[in-house]
Amino acid sequence: MAENIAVLIIDADADSRRMAKGLMAEIGWVTIAGESSDPSQGLELVRKIKPDVVFLNLYPAADELLELAEKITRSVPHITLFVTSSDKDPDIIIKAMRSGAKEFFRQPFDKDELMGAFRKFRMSDHGSAEGISHGRIISVFGMKGGVGATTIAINLAVNLAQHTKKRVVLVDLNLQLGNAALFLNIKPKYSIVDIAGGIEEIDPATVKGILPRHDSGIYLLSGPPRPEQAELVKENHLDRILLVLRSMFDFVIIDTTNVLGELALRALDESEMILAVLTDDLAAIYNARQCLDIFERMGYGEDKIRLVMNRGFSNRGISSQDVEKSISYPIFWKIPNEKYPTVLSSLNQGIPISLFKPHSKLSESFRDLANHLDNEFYPEEERTGPKKRKGLARRLFGGK
Ligand SMILES: Nc1ncnc2c1ncn2[C@@H]1O[C@H](COP(=O)(O)OP(=O)(O)O)[C@@H](O)[C@H]1O
Ligand SMILES: [Mg+2]
Repeated sequence: MAENIAVLIIDADADSRRMAKGLMAEIGWVTIAGESSDPSQGLELVRKIKPDVVFLNLYPAADELLELAEKITRSVPHITLFVTSSDKDPDIIIKAMRSGAKEFFRQPFDKDELMGAFRKFRMSDHGSAEGISHGRIISVFGMKGGVGATTIAINLAVNLAQHTKKRVVLVDLNLQLGNAALFLNIKPKYSIVDIAGGIEEIDPATVKGILPRHDSGIYLLSGPPRPEQAELVKENHLDRILLVLRSMFDFVIIDTTNVLGELALRALDESEMILAVLTDDLAAIYNARQCLDIFERMGYGEDKIRLVMNRGFSNRGISSQDVEKSISYPIFWKIPNEKYPTVLSSLNQGIPISLFKPHSKLSESFRDLANHLDNEFYPEEERTGPKKRKGLARRLFGGK
């Protein structure tokens, strides 16, 4: 995995070519093996240079260039094709993927997205492991309503995207009254129901074309606009959706419902990890013990089920040691309580708390959680920069 990735850029638009080249040059292990402003020379150049990746802009004549794309992927073995276009029409993405492209980039380019695609390519041993899915699924499960599952799912997703530069999608499985889109101030055009409706045709291209992207970098698959549509989503739909999402993203974060129906159970089963959330009050603790019993019967061990205590440190609740003792289960993570006015403003403005008040204790906890999970799931990757930035005072005077 140490070797460089050789890229050939075929792009008739000088500005976009310069941008793409600049961004790729910033990735230490990507080499520009060639570039051309003349697509008619494209196929010949690909054969001559034999790059690992061909980066093709569909400008100025998308239809002709899609034909070129197809010729490249059909006739040159072991070539991975990345395609870009300034055309906003979701159709173009679908056509690009059908022509054999592995990735599609909207313009203007998003540096993290570009970087993520190259990293994924590199991790898949230069793309040889065709279609292998690597993404990890983490479900956030509230062991009682209102304990903060949605808040944690959203902020974990945002922090993974921002601080670990991974590709992250958030799935709202609260199909009846999901509010992830609202918390993120996104008005999605399509929901999980639309995907389920055309499940046979679902592929990364379609998914990428219809999922809205939040400013933080995360993508969102939201629940249906009307609660009664929830029942249209079946387990086999979810299986397929998760399979496709896994192949596209490094992390799939699911905000599950706490009604343990078939769909929720399927999601939990598919997950590598379940963050089981409780608060420090008697009712939540009582529910937690019952949920843990169910999880135990399902064969999930301590590795998979991680207890997260939310809104702790209030001095009024039950101490975490007492919680651990009473339910005989270790607490994996403690998330502090935030003042109500701050939380309320963040909610009303549709800005996740970790972006709304990034230096709060709560935001720090989310950031640490994201880094911790990233390290746990992707331990072998070299990391750029320190995991945790220390403040000036801490750096000067020591301390953690
Ligand atoms: N750590 C926290 N500090 C303060 N308020 C919180 C915290 N976590 C969640 N909340 C608030 O609690 C309420 C319920 O949270 P939510 O994430 O919707 O829970 P759930 O999804 O489990 O029903 C929301 O108003 C949310 O802003
Ligand atoms: Mg919720």
